[in-house]
Amino acid sequence: MNLGILVSGRGSNLQAIIDAVRFGKLKDRISLVISDREGVQAIERCKRHAVPYKVIKRRDYASKEDFERAMVSALKAEGVELVVLAGFMRVLTKTFLSAFPMKVINIHPSLIPAFQGLRAQKQAVEYGVLYSGCTVHFVAEEVDNGPVIIQACVPVIPGDTEESLSERILRYEHRILPQAIKWISEGRVKVYGRKVIVEGARYGQLPFNPDLEDF
Ligand code: GRF
Repeated sequence: MNLGILVSGRGSNLQAIIDAVRFGKLKDRISLVISDREGVQAIERCKRHAVPYKVIKRRDYASKEDFERAMVSALKAEGVELVVLAGFMRVLTKTFLSAFPMKVINIHPSLIPAFQGLRAQKQAVEYGVLYSGCTVHFVAEEVDNGPVIIQACVPVIPGDTEESLSERILRYEHRILPQAIKWISEGRVKVYGRKVIVEGARYGQLPFNPDLEDF
């Protein structure tokens, strides 16, 4: 599959995908990375690994629609089949999503529907939950919503801060995101309304449900 990856910052999830491709765990190609910000670490990662990237900034376009259309054109020009939001800090509208129906996935650092929106790990620490985690889901028009592909459950420990919990969850993010891409690439991810079944996957385990196979 030709992958398009949208980023805004550090790009550690992007790195997890780059590494999965480099080490042959993913048979897919990263056809284009789009960053909506200049000078971010994600771009450095692209340069280091010779991954094609473009910076497409919102403020260079008159409207959000034009901005999204520019991203769609760039991705389509590279034959992108699956779009991965890996720390992309903007909410996509119908203009973008209708160009890639059920072909946009996102990683979110909570067990959605808990703690949607920004700073999910801070929300979890402040709420006092004892488990949080991360989710890979298809992107629907509502923020941090859409059919769930895989979740990982991560404990919250007394004394946790936003930073310490974020770090713990991130290690799980780096595993479930490439795994979800692999399953989609293998044609095993079936969507029935809000529900997703990964064909042949093992359900019912902790901390990963379905269980990881390759990561
Ligand atoms: C991750 O926590 C991801 O779940 C969230 O934004 C963060 C991005 O981190 N959507 P990185 O840029 O992949 O390092």
